[in-house]
Amino acid sequence: MKNFLLAPSILSADFACLGEESKKVIDAGCDWIHFDVMDNHYVPNLTMGPMILKSLRNYNINVPIDVHLMTKPVDNLIPQFAKAGASFITFHPESTQHIDRTLNLIKENGCKAGLAFNPSTSLNFLDYIIDKLDLILLMSVNPGFSNQSFLPSTFNKLREVRKLIDLNSLDIFLEVDGGVKLENVSEIAYSGANVFVIGSGIFDYPDHQKIIKNIRQELKYSYFKSIH
Ligand code: DX5
Ligand code: ZN
Repeated sequence: MKNFLLAPSILSADFACLGEESKKVIDAGCDWIHFDVMDNHYVPNLTMGPMILKSLRNYNINVPIDVHLMTKPVDNLIPQFAKAGASFITFHPESTQHIDRTLNLIKENGCKAGLAFNPSTSLNFLDYIIDKLDLILLMSVNPGFSNQSFLPSTFNKLREVRKLIDLNSLDIFLEVDGGVKLENVSEIAYSGANVFVIGSGIFDYPDHQKIIKNIRQELKYSYFKSIH
C-alpha cells in the first residue's frame, strides 16, 4: 500500500491549546505536524517562531515537525528552528539570495531540506539543486492564510514534478499545501502528491478523528483507482 502522509497544519488549530490540538490529530493517526511560520513581510500575516515549536517538543509532540518558512530572509532562523526541534525545514526560493547555501545550512543543522513553490513560481528553481532536496512543497494557494480555495493549476504542476521524481528515481516527498479537503484529496493524490498538508479541512471539524478517518478512506480509494 502506497504511503500517503497526513500533515495537519496547526495554523487552523486553536492557538490557546496548540499542544493538545497537535496531540489529538496525532492520536487520530496523522503522521507529521505542519508548522507555518509567517513574518508579515514575505507574507501578510504573522504566526509562530522557534519558541512555540520548542514548547510543542516539551509537550511530547514526537512526530516529525515540518517547518514551512514564509519569511524573508530565512538563514538566521534555520539554526534556531533546528535547535528547537524541527525535522524538515522548507523555504521559498524567492526568500533567500543563495538557494544552494540555504539548503546546505539546513543540512548542516541536521534537518531535512525542502523547497516550496508558490502557484506562480517556476519549477526551473529545481535545476541544479534537486539532488539536495528531501521534500518539494507545491503551494496550491497563495501563501499567507488558511482556508483558501485550491487552485486547479496545481494538478499539472504536481504531475510534472511526480514525473521528474520518478524518472530520476529520487527519494523526495511531494507535498501539497493549501485548500486540501476531503472532497479533493483523492484527485490530488492521483496527480502525484504523497504528503498532504491540511489545515481547515481537519481543524474546522470538531470530530478530528472522524474527518481524518474519512480522508484516509478517500486516499485508499485513490490508490486502488490508480492500480486498476
Ligand atoms: C498557507 C499555509 C498552509 C495553510 C493551509 O500559507 O502554508 O499550510 O495553513 O491551510 P488550509 O488547509 O486551510 O488551506
Ligand atoms: Zn504551509
